[in-house]
Amino acid sequence: MMHATSYVVLLLVALSFADRARARVCEGALQYDRCSLNTACGCLPLSSNDNNAICAYLGIGCSELNSCAMDNQTCFEPNHVCVKHTRCHNRPLCYPIDMATHDMCPTMPITTTSPWIIDDGICASAIWNLYRWQC
Ligand SMILES: *[C@@H]1O[C@H](CO)[C@@H](O)[C@H](O)[C@H]1NC(C)=O
Repeated sequence: MMHATSYVVLLLVALSFADRARARVCEGALQYDRCSLNTACGCLPLSSNDNNAICAYLGIGCSELNSCAMDNQTCFEPNHVCVKHTRCHNRPLCYPIDMATHDMCPTMPITTTSPWIIDDGICASAIWNLYRWQC
Protein backbone atom coordinates (compact mmCIF):
# COMPACT_ATOMS: atom_id res chain seq x y z
CA MET A 1 0.00 0.00 0.00
CA MET A 2 1.31 3.41 -0.89
CA HIS A 3 1.90 6.02 1.73
CA ALA A 4 -0.51 8.97 1.59
CA THR A 5 2.27 11.45 0.77
CA SER A 6 3.16 9.40 -2.29
CA TYR A 7 -0.31 9.99 -3.61
CA VAL A 8 0.05 13.72 -2.99
CA VAL A 9 3.38 13.83 -4.81
CA LEU A 10 1.99 11.87 -7.73
CA LEU A 11 -1.00 14.17 -7.89
CA LEU A 12 1.23 17.25 -7.89
CA VAL A 13 3.43 15.76 -10.61
CA ALA A 14 0.36 14.98 -12.70
CA LEU A 15 -1.01 18.48 -12.21
CA SER A 16 2.32 20.06 -13.07
CA PHE A 17 2.55 18.19 -16.34
CA ALA A 18 -1.07 18.86 -17.16
CA ASP A 19 -0.39 22.52 -16.45
CA ARG A 20 2.36 22.71 -19.07
CA ALA A 21 -0.19 22.46 -21.85
CA ARG A 22 -2.38 25.11 -20.29
CA ALA A 23 -2.07 28.80 -19.66
CA ARG A 24 0.30 29.99 -16.98
CA VAL A 25 -1.38 31.88 -14.19
CA CYS A 26 -0.19 35.31 -12.93
CA GLU A 27 -2.11 35.44 -9.72
CA GLY A 28 -2.44 38.83 -8.09
CA ALA A 29 -0.25 40.60 -10.62
CA LEU A 30 -1.27 43.79 -12.34
CA GLN A 31 -2.03 44.06 -16.02
CA TYR A 32 1.14 43.89 -18.13
CA ASP A 33 3.36 43.02 -15.14
CA ARG A 34 6.48 41.06 -15.95
CA CYS A 35 5.89 37.37 -15.33
CA SER A 36 8.42 35.46 -17.38
CA LEU A 37 12.06 35.13 -18.37
CA ASN A 38 10.71 36.09 -21.76
CA THR A 39 10.47 39.89 -21.51
CA ALA A 40 7.87 39.88 -24.28
CA CYS A 41 5.44 38.18 -21.89
CA GLY A 42 3.19 39.96 -19.41
CA CYS A 43 0.11 39.46 -17.30
CA LEU A 44 -3.29 39.74 -18.91
CA PRO A 45 -6.19 39.65 -16.42
CA LEU A 46 -9.02 37.29 -17.23
CA SER A 47 -12.15 39.28 -17.89
CA SER A 48 -14.20 36.70 -16.00
CA ASN A 49 -12.19 36.99 -12.79
CA ASP A 50 -10.26 40.08 -11.72
CA ASN A 51 -8.04 38.09 -9.38
CA ASN A 52 -6.62 35.87 -12.08
CA ALA A 53 -4.43 36.64 -15.01
CA ILE A 54 -2.51 34.62 -17.55
CA CYS A 55 1.17 35.10 -18.30
CA ALA A 56 1.00 35.61 -22.04
CA TYR A 57 3.24 36.55 -24.94
CA LEU A 58 2.21 40.12 -25.76
CA GLY A 59 3.72 40.31 -29.22
CA ILE A 60 0.50 39.40 -31.01
CA GLY A 61 -0.85 42.25 -33.10
CA CYS A 62 -4.10 43.73 -31.84
CA SER A 63 -5.69 43.17 -35.22
CA GLU A 64 -5.21 39.41 -34.83
CA LEU A 65 -7.35 39.33 -31.69
CA ASN A 66 -11.12 39.08 -31.81
CA SER A 67 -13.50 40.56 -29.29
CA CYS A 68 -15.14 38.31 -26.73
CA ALA A 69 -18.86 37.68 -26.93
CA MET A 70 -21.23 40.28 -25.50
CA ASP A 71 -21.06 38.71 -22.04
CA ASN A 72 -17.34 39.69 -21.99
CA GLN A 73 -16.43 36.15 -20.97
CA THR A 74 -16.99 33.85 -23.89
CA CYS A 75 -14.71 33.13 -26.82
CA PHE A 76 -16.06 31.12 -29.70
CA GLU A 77 -12.63 30.25 -31.04
CA PRO A 78 -11.20 27.04 -29.53
CA ASN A 79 -8.37 27.38 -27.00
CA HIS A 80 -8.89 31.08 -26.44
CA VAL A 81 -9.62 32.88 -23.19
CA CYS A 82 -11.25 36.23 -22.69
CA VAL A 83 -8.76 38.74 -21.26
CA LYS A 84 -8.41 42.45 -20.57
CA HIS A 85 -5.91 43.86 -23.03
CA THR A 86 -6.62 47.57 -22.88
CA ARG A 87 -3.56 48.51 -24.95
CA CYS A 88 -5.45 46.89 -27.80
CA HIS A 89 -9.07 47.53 -26.99
CA ASN A 90 -11.38 48.69 -24.20
CA ARG A 91 -13.51 45.63 -24.66
CA PRO A 92 -12.15 42.23 -23.59
CA LEU A 93 -10.38 40.24 -26.29
CA CYS A 94 -9.95 36.54 -26.99
CA TYR A 95 -6.35 35.47 -26.46
CA PRO A 96 -4.91 32.17 -27.72
CA ILE A 97 -3.87 29.92 -24.83
CA ASP A 98 -0.97 28.72 -27.00
CA MET A 99 0.61 32.14 -26.40
CA ALA A 100 0.49 31.69 -22.61
CA THR A 101 2.15 28.32 -22.07
CA HIS A 102 5.26 27.54 -20.04
CA ASP A 103 7.15 27.03 -23.27
CA MET A 104 6.19 30.47 -24.54
CA CYS A 105 6.59 32.33 -21.25
CA PRO A 106 8.94 30.38 -18.93
CA THR A 107 8.77 31.10 -15.23
CA MET A 108 11.34 33.47 -13.79
CA PRO A 109 13.85 31.76 -11.44
CA ILE A 110 12.66 33.71 -8.41
CA THR A 111 8.95 34.21 -8.24
CA THR A 112 6.25 34.45 -5.66
CA THR A 113 4.11 31.86 -7.38
CA SER A 114 3.22 28.52 -5.87
CA PRO A 115 6.34 26.47 -5.01
CA TRP A 116 5.22 23.35 -6.84
CA ILE A 117 5.24 24.84 -10.33
CA ILE A 118 7.90 23.14 -12.39
CA ASP A 119 9.70 25.53 -14.68
CA ASP A 120 10.54 23.21 -17.52
CA GLY A 121 10.58 19.63 -18.66
CA ILE A 122 14.33 19.14 -18.25
CA CYS A 123 13.88 17.91 -14.69
CA ALA A 124 14.18 14.16 -15.21
CA SER A 125 13.54 13.07 -11.64
CA ALA A 126 12.01 15.61 -9.34
CA ILE A 127 11.61 15.02 -5.65
CA TRP A 128 9.38 16.85 -3.26
CA ASN A 129 11.61 18.24 -0.54
CA LEU A 130 9.13 19.56 2.01
CA TYR A 131 8.63 22.97 0.41
CA ARG A 132 9.83 22.84 -3.14
CA TRP A 133 10.77 20.63 -6.03
CA GLN A 134 14.37 19.71 -6.40
CA CYS A 135 15.97 18.15 -9.44
C1 LIG B 1 -18.26 44.45 -21.40
O1 LIG B 1 -17.13 45.28 -21.27
C2 LIG B 1 -17.33 46.61 -21.73
C3 LIG B 1 -16.01 47.34 -21.65
O2 LIG B 1 -15.32 47.05 -20.49
C4 LIG B 1 -18.44 47.26 -20.87
O3 LIG B 1 -18.68 48.57 -21.31
C5 LIG B 1 -19.71 46.42 -20.98
O4 LIG B 1 -20.69 46.95 -20.13
C6 LIG B 1 -19.43 44.97 -20.60
N1 LIG B 1 -20.60 44.17 -20.84
C7 LIG B 1 -21.05 43.29 -19.93
C8 LIG B 1 -22.22 42.47 -20.33
O5 LIG B 1 -20.53 43.15 -18.84
